[in-house]
Amino acid sequence: MTSETWHIPVMPAETIEWLVTDSDGVYIDATLGAGGHSALLLQQLGSGAQVFGIDQDDEALAETARRIDDERLKTVKGNFGFIATLMHPGLHGKISGILFDYGVSSHQIDAPERGFTFREDGPLDMRMGNLSSLTARDVVNTYPFERLRNLLFEYGEERRSSAIARQITESRPLESTADLRKCVEAVIRGPHLVKSLARVFQAIRIEVNRELEMLRNGLDQSLKLLKPGGRIVTIAYHSLEDRLVKNFFRTGNFGGKQEKDFYGNIIRPLQPLHNRPVTAGDAEIQLNPRARSARLRAAEKNTEEVPK
Ligand SMILES: C[S@@+](CC[C@H](N)C(=O)[O-])C[C@H]1O[C@@H](n2cnc3c(N)ncnc32)[C@H](O)[C@@H]1O
Repeated sequence: MTSETWHIPVMPAETIEWLVTDSDGVYIDATLGAGGHSALLLQQLGSGAQVFGIDQDDEALAETARRIDDERLKTVKGNFGFIATLMHPGLHGKISGILFDYGVSSHQIDAPERGFTFREDGPLDMRMGNLSSLTARDVVNTYPFERLRNLLFEYGEERRSSAIARQITESRPLESTADLRKCVEAVIRGPHLVKSLARVFQAIRIEVNRELEMLRNGLDQSLKLLKPGGRIVTIAYHSLEDRLVKNFFRTGNFGGKQEKDFYGNIIRPLQPLHNRPVTAGDAEIQLNPRARSARLRAAEKNTEEVPK
């Protein structure tokens, strides 16, 4: 794979437009990938700016190092679920903007040896990095039927979750992604097969990487890092992610319930900047099909709690 096709950043202009409020500020790209968004951000920022780029994947960090030579960028290996501990305490409350471009990169999906794709055979891995030990092999071979069914239903929104989970448990041990594919093929036939394969592989990937838990932790901890008026920009690729972000931006919690303090003031740490998410235009989707499902949202940290 050439460097250019590693990963095309989604909604690049919109991301920078909503993220940048201070051209000499400190920013965090919490999902650095190949540094597509960071490169654009650096172009936009002044000489006094600083960008911290986080990724849990060594290959992504190496690719960014190959592409970007800029002393304003500092790369950090880690999981954004622990974003506050990854940043020096002296930076807490000083960050102008944080970007989360969720999910996997095209490079990760397209590399069969990472196990994310159902299109080619590969190992049952699906880890975005080597910081955790749980793999897809553990999930499909050791989870009890109910747990497997529930995660296929919840994270994959797969209607035939029961039948597929049953097929998986009866086919153990599964050795490769081709074995997992065969389990889905045994249940789903015809035009719905590809969608079901995508849903099943997505569900297991979300479980392996604890994606929703890390999303929640990352957003929660971002509140500590942002300065008042600082912004969070998120790009979500499925409704489970987008719903959590939307609720958090509106209420500061993931259930979306408006909370009040002791005095009855509404607790609202963030001001959402959009009612409806920003989506990619047709021209971008033509060039980059991955942009089709992308939902961009932005929110600004309130200077003080908004009174009732
Ligand atoms: C969609 S790609 C980002 C692409 C990047 N914006 C670009 O333009 O090149 C998501 C990246 O975030 C990383 N990632 C996903 N979840 C993460 C997490 N919890 N902690 C750290 N990195 C994560 C993945 O390894 C992947 O490289």
